[in-house]
Amino acid sequence: MTPPLRIAVIAGDGIGPEVIPAGITVLERAVAGTGATLAFTEFPWGCEFYRRTGRMMDADGLEILQGFDAIYLGAIGAPGVPDHVSVWELILPIRQRFDQYVNLRPMRLLPGVPTPLAGRTAADIDMVCVRENSEGEYAGLGGRLHRGTPHEVAEQTGLFTRRGIDRIARYAFELASRRPRRLLASATKSNALQHSMVLWDEAVAAVAAEYPAVECRKYHVDALAARMITHPHTVDVIVASNLFGDILTDLGAAVSGSLGVAPGANINPERTHPSMFEPIHGSAPDIAGRGIANPIGAIWAGALMLDHLGLPDAHDRIVRAIERVVGEGGPRTPDLGGTATTREVADAVAAALA
Ligand code: NAI
Ligand code: MG
Repeated sequence: MTPPLRIAVIAGDGIGPEVIPAGITVLERAVAGTGATLAFTEFPWGCEFYRRTGRMMDADGLEILQGFDAIYLGAIGAPGVPDHVSVWELILPIRQRFDQYVNLRPMRLLPGVPTPLAGRTAADIDMVCVRENSEGEYAGLGGRLHRGTPHEVAEQTGLFTRRGIDRIARYAFELASRRPRRLLASATKSNALQHSMVLWDEAVAAVAAEYPAVECRKYHVDALAARMITHPHTVDVIVASNLFGDILTDLGAAVSGSLGVAPGANINPERTHPSMFEPIHGSAPDIAGRGIANPIGAIWAGALMLDHLGLPDAHDRIVRAIERVVGEGGPRTPDLGGTATTREVADAVAAALA
């Protein structure tokens, strides 16, 4: 018998502890009978832990996580704890320490889900963003001076390396070359950011030369944002810096019907460290505790985790089950116009796995 896949679970805050158990239900059902087994270990880290201990996770949290095959994260953030604390003491350290330099975010309109874009259907919206996840605008460099005085200053420095751009571009070209349209959009802003984004363009162009079968176009990020709304059918794979990708993927989730359906993967392609899988939404304090959060983003993120762990069939079956539930009149949570609970949607997806 193959050893169980060891998965660290950080359900986190707000709706995290509602959507993650829903995801686990579906994942366990999806692997049943495949010969693979999943061993989940839960960690109580997050803002509640912070209130009790003054830390977002145990001091040796990263060392503990290193021993797992993957990390399944809900959401982090709660009223009363500054968001930069929760992000900088939990999510970003994991992404950086484990060199999860790829943030992969599919943005697909599922069949039957209403989009805010008039006249568009599932056939028009099938994009995936490859977001740089280890440097760029979120490198964390900078500081503040003369706090609380009228001449207070803040400096936030972006950090772009040729190696960092090269490796994210390479991942994006590989992905684009495996998709039918073989189209890659590079999000730039080299007209205004004359240092960082000019390096970005040069490094992407150098990688492009190795992938003649992929049609690569660069767009200024503002124009690309508009294009995702006016011509979504012309966008396939996007490669973007950390900040640009962050913004474009919330836009992509919105045109896909709801932030609640969008999955994300933080991948260490070399597999020297565990990768982390999470819905892209946050802790949604406005709906937390009511059992009505959409679990689809968390379930889909779990499917991406199984794919990464060598179970692509289980991934495909979960995605088809999600499509069946939303496309064939199954239960929907209120964000998709329904009245179902988180649990009812998860049970319906699990039942549709057959
Ligand atoms: P958010 O994603 O939590 O919520 C934005 C809106 O989308 C809210 O109206 C919410 O109700 C709705 N929404 C989100 N997920 C949903 C779901 N699964 N089903 C139905 N509706 C859903 O973003 P917001 O409000 O900007 O941030 C709230 C907290 O989450 C903050 O503390 C923020 O720092 C944190 N956050 C954490 C992230 C993470 O853990 N990776 C990512 C984004 C935000
Ligand atoms: Mg975001």
